[in-house]
Amino acid sequence: MLEVIHISDTHFGPDRSLDIRGANACAHAEALVKAVNELAFQPDFIVHTGDVANDPHDKAYALAEEILSELKAPVYYATGNHDDVSMMRSALSFGDRVDLVPDSDNQMCYRIGGAAEEKVQFYVLDGWVPPTEGPHGFLSENQIEAVLSDISGEKPVAVFLHYPLVPIGSPWIDEKLLTKNGIEFQTRLLDAAGSQLRGVFTGHLHRGLKLFHDGVFHSGVSSPACEFTAGPEDEFCDFLQGGPIPFDHITFTEESTMVKSYSLPFEGGE
Ligand SMILES: [Fe+2]
Repeated sequence: MLEVIHISDTHFGPDRSLDIRGANACAHAEALVKAVNELAFQPDFIVHTGDVANDPHDKAYALAEEILSELKAPVYYATGNHDDVSMMRSALSFGDRVDLVPDSDNQMCYRIGGAAEEKVQFYVLDGWVPPTEGPHGFLSENQIEAVLSDISGEKPVAVFLHYPLVPIGSPWIDEKLLTKNGIEFQTRLLDAAGSQLRGVFTGHLHRGLKLFHDGVFHSGVSSPACEFTAGPEDEFCDFLQGGPIPFDHITFTEESTMVKSYSLPFEGGE
């Protein structure tokens, strides 16, 4: 059994003063860390699915490291559209990992290492595209091939990345925020992992999400900084003010993937 905490989209500014629609990003991230640390069980590890920073700035990652390194379990990060991979590599502390593409590719694609890899093959992929092209994601062929060729077929497989792979039923999000080649990647992932595929875990939408697509389980976690709307006729995703403190507790057993979603009130006195 493995206990994993999934967090996302902390959007740290270069100092503690950054407010996003009235919510202080740093204070909300600190409340998130406190809530995870106060759980009555010890997570095996924590995955942050990107947008660590609101804008890629050394000081934002230094502040993120100051706050997030207080988490009492190894932390792993995926690259979000607001992030810079080289700043993340140099500023953030990661748990043990096995890189699947060279650093020179300027992509962060790895398998989570340590004791967890004996039970489940966890992959973290990098869907970042330049901001002038985004905010959608795209998975490079070298990453896809590296992940697919690493899958043994004998262990459960789970994938973490910033950008959802498949439509969620909200037009602006489905047009603008998904992984452009997400469905193609899912098809190839299913070919490689088959029934061992336990789920795809994402951020980016600032919205909790549970869906099945082609038999694959997808789970997204919201942002402690702010939430987005995701209505069935939305022409744009608006901000919802005063976000809660969201995180997901994912349990992997031999036969199950279980997700318990937390949404705690912020008590920081805004
Ligand atoms: Fe975000």
